[in-house]
Amino acid sequence: MKILVTGGAGFIGSHTVVELLDSGYEVVIIDNFSNSSPKVLDSIKEITNKDFKFYEGDVCDKQLLNKIFDENDINSVIHFAGFKAVGESVKKPLMYYRNNIDSTLSLLEVMGEHNVKKLVFSSSATVYGKPKELPIKEDASLSTTNPYGSTKLMIEGILKDLYISDNSWSIAVLRYFNPIGAHPTGLIGENPKDIPNNLMPYIVKVANKELKELSVFGNDYDTHDGTGVRDYIHVVDLSRGHIKAIEKVNKDTGINYYNLGTGTGYSVLDIVETFKRVNNIDVPYKIVDRRPGDIDACFADPTKALNELGFKATHTLDEMCKDAYNYVLKNK
Ligand code: UD1
Repeated sequence: MKILVTGGAGFIGSHTVVELLDSGYEVVIIDNFSNSSPKVLDSIKEITNKDFKFYEGDVCDKQLLNKIFDENDINSVIHFAGFKAVGESVKKPLMYYRNNIDSTLSLLEVMGEHNVKKLVFSSSATVYGKPKELPIKEDASLSTTNPYGSTKLMIEGILKDLYISDNSWSIAVLRYFNPIGAHPTGLIGENPKDIPNNLMPYIVKVANKELKELSVFGNDYDTHDGTGVRDYIHVVDLSRGHIKAIEKVNKDTGINYYNLGTGTGYSVLDIVETFKRVNNIDVPYKIVDRRPGDIDACFADPTKALNELGFKATHTLDEMCKDAYNYVLKNK
């Protein structure tokens, strides 16, 4: 079975390609390296000892998409490609709307024209906005606080309307919590091109002495130690969730939404302390003001993914912290 992976050279995309190849799927990747590097493709081959087809280009490019679908007997698509930096999206909203929405519309049109109607979409827990109840269930109310999040929510809406118009589509919308860690081989991982916005990539750069100290954004939240609580999930677990979702869209039609998280919340200081302990390295930090838009706590109810997909995250926080740092050590 041949799967098209958009954004397959990215952080979550590359780990998912590894899991797909290891599970016996054939893979076709489209990526324009806007936030990744061609080296990742070699690393995927090294990890899996398997090959795949690669097209360099933009998912907004319908001509290229048509060529890919004409040249390959694609069965299903996993759509990762998109801009994902919250802060940048606030500064350049039109760029985010143009890229994330346009690429998805092009992809859906070309899929429909080629009668490929099985899709797994990379969404985010950001669509839950400021959650009213924890843990978060998939039927919680949806809202967003920034243009990046709005693109995810808009695409969810587009997919819903598409399914209503033609219920031969089969769509799984995966809402990721906080993916961290890296492949245990250290060959692929998260490598932001600029100063990181997210917690784990920042900690890693501080540990590696590329940045002086971590700023902990607020210690007066309503949590066990006052710092923000999130549901961190190992990227390898998250990637395995996509295999389960591919199985699901190939079994049933419908549009279904799944949280991919562990169901456990850890605070910023829990992460820092675990990282220090398992890697035996210091991570200097200082407490600073809250980051605008941040919330106290956010963690998943992962029951639906367990019941309907048979998905359960198995990696511990120790493994997430160890693998995140191992990747940096191997790529110094
Ligand atoms: C962010 C995005 C979310 C996106 C997700 C991807 C926002 C508001 N949300 O989630 O849309 O899907 O990344 O993983 O940006 N922290 C620090 N110091 C730092 C960085 C972070 O203390 O230098 C804290 C934050 O205040 C938060 C926690 O660490 O409590 C996690 O932050 P981050 O990794 O940026 O993820 P989210 O904000 O949860």
